[in-house]
Amino acid sequence: MIDGKKVLFSGMQATGSLTLGNYMGALKNWLTLCEEYECFYSVVDLHSITVRQEPAELRKRARNLLTLYIAAGLDPVKNCLYYQSHVSGHCELSWILNCFTYMGELNRMTQFKDKAAKHADNINAGLFTYPVLMAADILLYQADVVPVGKDQLQHLEITRDIAQRFNAIYGDVFTVPEPYIGKTGASIKSLQAPEKKMSKSDENPNASIYLMDDPDTIMRKFKRAVTDSEAQVRYRPEQPGICNLINIYSVCTGKSPEEVEKEFDGRGYGDFKTAVGEAVVSVLKPLQERYADLSRNKDYIDSVIKNNAEKANHYATKTLRKVQKKVGFPERIR
Ligand code: TRP
Repeated sequence: MIDGKKVLFSGMQATGSLTLGNYMGALKNWLTLCEEYECFYSVVDLHSITVRQEPAELRKRARNLLTLYIAAGLDPVKNCLYYQSHVSGHCELSWILNCFTYMGELNRMTQFKDKAAKHADNINAGLFTYPVLMAADILLYQADVVPVGKDQLQHLEITRDIAQRFNAIYGDVFTVPEPYIGKTGASIKSLQAPEKKMSKSDENPNASIYLMDDPDTIMRKFKRAVTDSEAQVRYRPEQPGICNLINIYSVCTGKSPEEVEKEFDGRGYGDFKTAVGEAVVSVLKPLQERYADLSRNKDYIDSVIKNNAEKANHYATKTLRKVQKKVGFPERIR
């Protein structure tokens, strides 16, 4: 608890560009969470180097992501938006938790197996202990809830196991986090294969709308979106491509799927796709303008980075000192 509020923690990697799916499925729904929770959103650059990165590129992407979060409406006074590498407590706690995590547990992590297969030339120890660092992220802030996608549930589960194991030995040190099950955003699918999620790492650039796509690109991608031969704008599972477009249009305009069906009754897919494209452009345009303004305001972004790193450090250090004492490290002399 911080100031009577439960704590929410989430981390995001600055790899790949955010898509409309990330925005509508997650980010947009985070904007109001700070009323109920004390929210920490970390750009997890320590995690990023488990895979080889180009340094200048990593630095740039990390800053862009932070800027984009602010542009999307996350208030950096009400939410703590910070770089993981600016708070040394993540590494320090991670080391301690490494000593409370079993090789066998880490060996079972499906993401490790996937990544090891994908980066066979660089199966480093960091990749293996990735989940322990993630546990440290969460436990350092005594987070009550963690919004994560399905792919990260196994990591949240091991975080809970580590916390409970530690608590069983040393008493109630860590809050045991739960997955955040709140109002879930719309699940936006690929424009080229509507049975798949829209992903920032899709190899086909026409499958995803990126938040920084210009209007022409957006219109073109919607024109090429996969549909069907039913020739009717209907919200039903037999028409997954059209369903996806209806969902996107609904989120952008606030109209219900039924209203959208009515609006496009008797009209062709060409018309409908144009309308969806225009609705998306009108949502992304102000976001892109805010992003451009913010990017020009170096001093402001720098101040956000500095202030939020201090805030994060404050809470992180509190937990870290408690843990260090519990495991038997000598007290600091002041
Ligand atoms: N592993 C997460 C991902 O790739 C990112 C992450 C790191 C994270 N630390 C976290 C997510 C803590 C939630 C909580 O998506």
